[in-house]
Amino acid sequence: MAVIIDGKMLAKKIRQELKVECEELIKEGIKSKLAVIMVGDNPASKVYVRNKSRACEEIGIEYEEYLLKDDIKQEDLIELIKKLNKDENINGILLQSPIPDHLNINEAFKTITYRKDVDGFTPSSVGKLCIGEDTFISCTPYGVMKMFDEYNIDLTGKNVVILGRSNIVGKPLIQCCLAKNATVTVCHSKTKNIEEYTKRADVLIAAIGKAKFVTKDMVKKGVVIIDVGINRNEEGKLVGDVDFENIEPIASYITPVPGGVGPMTIAMLMNNVIKAAKEQNNQISKL
Ligand code: GUN
Repeated sequence: MAVIIDGKMLAKKIRQELKVECEELIKEGIKSKLAVIMVGDNPASKVYVRNKSRACEEIGIEYEEYLLKDDIKQEDLIELIKKLNKDENINGILLQSPIPDHLNINEAFKTITYRKDVDGFTPSSVGKLCIGEDTFISCTPYGVMKMFDEYNIDLTGKNVVILGRSNIVGKPLIQCCLAKNATVTVCHSKTKNIEEYTKRADVLIAAIGKAKFVTKDMVKKGVVIIDVGINRNEEGKLVGDVDFENIEPIASYITPVPGGVGPMTIAMLMNNVIKAAKEQNNQISKL
């Protein structure tokens, strides 16, 4: 029987701490404000964006939304980002991905000024993470690291196997786990005999977006499982990348889906907005 890592509860605790911090900052005359840009009307993005706006409201972070038509030109998107970069009332800028194929998302991310890069996607943020400097860390990996801290899971010398190499999750997780002295292996769609790697994992982080991809025969007893996947099964129910029911009895720790990593992502975004507001007002960030 595994310890269930309760992301919902931990995210709530973090949001409550941030609310207190946000109120204190407001008393000192420091407001925090997030601008979210969404292009087109991707249904999943709409849900994410709504959840982000609700979290801002709960904490006391001001929120501004830019809903752009899906035929917007690249230069107009870049123009908007540049305008928000200059706007002193905006502390954080988030461009919700995905955006339509005719737009170059990397160019758009690169345009966001480092000071407001609350998603941690700009080359400056990614580079700083690689060399171990304080920076904005991509929210999902950051949330996963907070879970390890909260449950006293020490990664020193552990075999951490990451499934997935996305810029948003897999790649930043490599750096985060390395910084905690883990031995890190990354597997992806072209990895051969993936179970040879997963069976050796002390900690397995699944972020590939395939429902119940990780089965019981792929892991060893006592493994720590972090499931970043959010998939819908045939009945429309949310399921992770891991076969929770069959792996939970042999794991030492496991995150559920829903209620695991998902809520942590938004909590860490809120954390990053407050960090940005403080740094822009010359305060040292606590978190
Ligand atoms: N799309 C899916 N996850 C994310 C995220 O963390 N940030 C942004 N900007 N877009 C996303």
